Amino acid sequence: MVSAKAKTAKASESGWFVKWVLRGAWLALFAAVCGWLDTIKDRWYVFTPESLHELAQAAIAAAPAPNDTAFMAQYIVDNLTATYPSDVIALNTNASEWVLSNAGGAMGAMYVIHASVTEYLIVFGTPLGTEGHTGMHTADDYFNILVGEQWAFNPPQLEMEVYRPGSVHHLPRGKVKQYKMHEGCFALEYARGWIPLMMPFGLMDVFSSTLDYWSLYHTVRISAREMLKNILIGKI
Ligand SMILES: *[C@@H]1O[C@H](CO)[C@@H](O)[C@H](O)[C@H]1NC(C)=O
Ligand SMILES: *[C@@H]1O[C@H](CO)[C@@H](O)[C@H](O)[C@H]1NC(C)=O
Ligand SMILES: *[C@@H]1O[C@H](CO)[C@@H](O)[C@H](O)[C@H]1NC(C)=O
Repeated sequence: MVSAKAKTAKASESGWFVKWVLRGAWLALFAAVCGWLDTIKDRWYVFTPESLHELAQAAIAAAPAPNDTAFMAQYIVDNLTATYPSDVIALNTNASEWVLSNAGGAMGAMYVIHASVTEYLIVFGTPLGTEGHTGMHTADDYFNILVGEQWAFNPPQLEMEVYRPGSVHHLPRGKVKQYKMHEGCFALEYARGWIPLMMPFGLMDVFSSTLDYWSLYHTVRISAREMLKNILIGKI
């Protein structure tokens, strides 16, 4: 009786050991796959930060007024659809498809031009001004200012950074800052890296604060639709 009990205890102890070794092995495998994917992610990029910067500057130069964001958005999407074949990358050409967005304490609206697993391109901003946390991201972020000014604070540098129309604010992945869109500001925002991992930052404020299920619904609907359109043509 006693010895049977001891045997069971010993068996469950070795079962526990095997279970945790297996879990550790799965975790190591998962980390290795993620590490490998991270080294090859750039093979799926279609846009370049340099060409988008040039395009943002051309849109500003062509606009009839320096605050004409709608013209610039249309100019940008017209150029991109003419530049990139539709079997290489899927673009959302409906430049009136804006949706409100709250993230990191800041609020504005965005028009999603492109969203896939490794890249997104949006026009983001507000005519009112806003301020918040950039968020910590798994992607490099290029903020091409179209209208107005964006300010940023990056301690221990105690002077503010100022970004004006035609300039680009590059936030490397993993870096964080405080930012402010002083008064009205709109930007062409390009992110490259692991985009789905950025989603929680973009959506969390709905659950913790705004409860704006209407904007949540459209954000998810539009992002999912654009990602799916890209996956279907093999654009990861
Ligand atoms: C798109 O914009 C770029 C940058 O301004 C320019 O070099 C290119 O010629 C434009 N392409 C089209 C098709 O308009
Ligand atoms: C742009 O600025 C002009 C002049 O200040 C103003 O009348 C117009 O309403 C502004 N347009 C937009 C879209 O903000
Ligand atoms: C463009 O988006 C707007 C706003 O979501 C929508 O009302 C309109 O029907 C869309 N147009 C097309 C052609 O899909």
